[in-house]
Amino acid sequence: MKYGFFDDAAREYVITRPDTPYPWINYLGCDDFFGLFSNTSGGYCFYRDAKMLRLTRYRYNNAPADIGGRYFYLKDTPAVGDTPTADLSLDSGVGVGSDIGACGGNMNIWSPQWQPMKSQLDSYECRHGLGYSKISSAKNGLEFSQTSFVPRGDTCEIHKIVLKNTTSAAKNIDMFSYVEFCLWNAQDDMTNFQRNFSIGEVEVHDSAIYHKTEYRERRNHYAVWAVNTPIVGFDTDRESFLGLYNGTNAPDVVLSGASKNSIAHGWSPIGSHHIKAELAPGEAREFVFVLGYCENPEAEKWESLHVINKSPAKALLEKYATSEAADRALAELQAYWRELLSIFTVESVFSSAFAKTSSRASSGDTAEESTDYKKMARMAGVWNQYQCMVTFNMSRSASYFESGIGRGMGFRDSNQDLLGFVHLVPQRARARILDIAATQLPDGSAYHQYQPLTKRGNNEIGSGFNDDPLWLILGVAAYIKETGDFSILDEQVPFDNDETLADSLFAHLKRSFDFTVNNKGPHGLPLIGRADWNDCLNLNCFSSTPGESFQTTANFESGIAESVLIAAIFAFVAPDYIEICRRTGRIEEAAYALSELGKIQKAIDSHGWDGNWFLRAYDAHGKKIGSHECEDGKIFIESNGFSVMAGIGLDDGRAEKALNSVRDWLETPYGIVLQQPAYQKYHLELGEISSYPPGYKENAGIFCHNNPWVTIAETRLGRGIRAFETYKKICPTYREDDSALRRMEPYVYCQMIAGKDAARHGEGKNSWLTGTAAWTFTSISQYILGIRPEYDGLRIDPCIPADMTSFTIMRKFRGTLYEITVDNSAGVEKGVRHITLDGEKINGNLLPAKATDSEATSNAAGGDIDGMNNSNEKPCKVTVVMG
Ligand code: GLC
Ligand code: GLC
Repeated sequence: MKYGFFDDAAREYVITRPDTPYPWINYLGCDDFFGLFSNTSGGYCFYRDAKMLRLTRYRYNNAPADIGGRYFYLKDTPAVGDTPTADLSLDSGVGVGSDIGACGGNMNIWSPQWQPMKSQLDSYECRHGLGYSKISSAKNGLEFSQTSFVPRGDTCEIHKIVLKNTTSAAKNIDMFSYVEFCLWNAQDDMTNFQRNFSIGEVEVHDSAIYHKTEYRERRNHYAVWAVNTPIVGFDTDRESFLGLYNGTNAPDVVLSGASKNSIAHGWSPIGSHHIKAELAPGEAREFVFVLGYCENPEAEKWESLHVINKSPAKALLEKYATSEAADRALAELQAYWRELLSIFTVESVFSSAFAKTSSRASSGDTAEESTDYKKMARMAGVWNQYQCMVTFNMSRSASYFESGIGRGMGFRDSNQDLLGFVHLVPQRARARILDIAATQLPDGSAYHQYQPLTKRGNNEIGSGFNDDPLWLILGVAAYIKETGDFSILDEQVPFDNDETLADSLFAHLKRSFDFTVNNKGPHGLPLIGRADWNDCLNLNCFSSTPGESFQTTANFESGIAESVLIAAIFAFVAPDYIEICRRTGRIEEAAYALSELGKIQKAIDSHGWDGNWFLRAYDAHGKKIGSHECEDGKIFIESNGFSVMAGIGLDDGRAEKALNSVRDWLETPYGIVLQQPAYQKYHLELGEISSYPPGYKENAGIFCHNNPWVTIAETRLGRGIRAFETYKKICPTYREDDSALRRMEPYVYCQMIAGKDAARHGEGKNSWLTGTAAWTFTSISQYILGIRPEYDGLRIDPCIPADMTSFTIMRKFRGTLYEITVDNSAGVEKGVRHITLDGEKINGNLLPAKATDSEATSNAAGGDIDGMNNSNEKPCKVTVVMG
């Protein structure tokens, strides 16, 4: 079952019916101001921090789902003597997707976005593009379109509305807008009603509604909701607008056709405009709505007593006072994305397998562009990178599964997110690295999370996740490989945000490295602490109190529980640390690090191998986890994927054995589950992992984040067919036809898909904010297609299905644009025979970075990349012959 299609030329996903199996959302905004935007205009927006500075209210886990957004109601008042042609009663028929009308059977009133009235529409379409969305619908001979986005450089959402009369008679349209304001702190907003119901304040001035709750005291910001046309009425009090016992699907004001000009005093402030539009036959009218965040300096807060200083709002509204201005801002946003995605694009992929079965085969063609690979191209070239930007911006804070009030920026999550983002805007990656590193603690361990506004470590969650520090090495290495900017290592960065403890970023890496070295257990493997990458493997917690958080409850350090995964992560990142030491003249440190790497490898060899796969851990009693000896949880994905990624067992067959075991035990049609057999009972000594019902989340769900670890591991074995198989399974576009079961957006990865032990095996949850985005992009771009940034240049090392006969990638790297064409007419899975660069043969398979590349460093260190500067440059032509 499909609910839309990819418009690849426009880089849009087009949703063709509103009743998607779950709200399918998009993100507006790429810098400071963000909106979550569903296919029926549901969602909310916030400035920088989804918890502290939320502009509009959204009720999570609501029934019906996804009510609350930027809504518009239309009312078509027939001329006297006209009679409505149809009656939309509560059980009336289906227009597009809807089977329930609403609103007292009055077909002349409808929601052009389908929600909240679930109106029967004559047509409906929602296009989610890169940073913008467009909803179009028609009813009663009136076309509606809404284009929504956050303009670059401004802190607002723009909603451009077009109404067009497609009939031959004049129309009198009433349009009502509706947003519900959040009283800024989203957590308080949903809990502290004894206070909140008395503090709401607004002002209305011309066509602008100002939400100024708490501005009279400590806030210096307010929200504005305005339209660039005169209004005939407004409402700002929810109860007046809706009626106390009505929902947004039947507002009093809309039903009666007249605003009440209500001013909110406490209770629930909203913003609603009433616009009258007379439309001649064929006439279209455009309206620009702006929903913005404005700040004033402390001394300039007031115009007069109780009257806020509106000048920043006025400037903003002035800027977007015309449709042309809105269109221009959208065009700039689109150009920005075109430029970003020109850094890595998959131009074409050809396959011989496809040609064999296609009609063109008989005409002598050996290969044809394959639809199967085209799907990969659209994900790798567009949607996967788009999701990487979103995860970089949001970390795990705000989605339809993350409420925006919970988690801050994760230390490990944000470092991993860099992998998929650093090539897009390196200077933002650089700034992020410095922020993250500043929350590291002096002993090398790290706050697990920090708050985005204050950038301070989050005391509530604390530290003790012993894998955390190592991800900093991974993130910094990725940054340096992309940019060549070693100067980042010399930046002075505080520990625990304490400037007096500042030291170089390199010193932070050393403490990360040493933290593992200094915290080992009885087998010489790293101690796990509160948990490792798997937040739910809580081996030192022993929680028996219902409701207690496994992440924050007492964590006694047994000094015994060890993690093979941390050992593998160490083995994977240590070579980068060693390389960084060597290249910065720290020769002794490099030698020390090499010997520590050797010790860890030895510990994995002697105590981390179970015979057919890598063990997962030792618990606080010294018992094995992830061993054939265990009743449940015999084999885990993480330690196997990561050990092979780190090259362990490549030379003696263990790597291959491990991956074959993963395939045989853990693989399903929808991806690779986290472990098997699922834990059937709660285990005090294992913690949260065994708290989940079998098949969900860390208890044998398909935890997509670590599937690409197996993909990358497969490329280390040179198994291109297997690598691609594992890539495809969790890749959303391949399951577009299966959307009824998968339920999540076909253009984004989800964190988890229900495993084989679950009732709805294959059902996705928690889309958007997941490390899966960065790791799948890494697996496809760097390891399958094999275009991999290294310190000295771009390594070209594809590992592909043998039937992929050729492909072409555009890659901008340190200021140079390469057009890389890989010729695999030999039909191999791995191996580069030779490479030519602009016609000249080069040695080996490394495209050397241009030596004096000041542009790259300036890009990285704060310069351009934003720029539209070099989109027309001529690429260097690279031809790669596999065989
Ligand atoms: C979530 C967390 C991440 C963790 C993973 C596995 O995705 O954000 O930090 O590694 O779960 O537990
Ligand atoms: C991570 C895990 C999740 C766990 C949570 C606790 O997100 O994925 O399963 O419940 O951490 O904070």
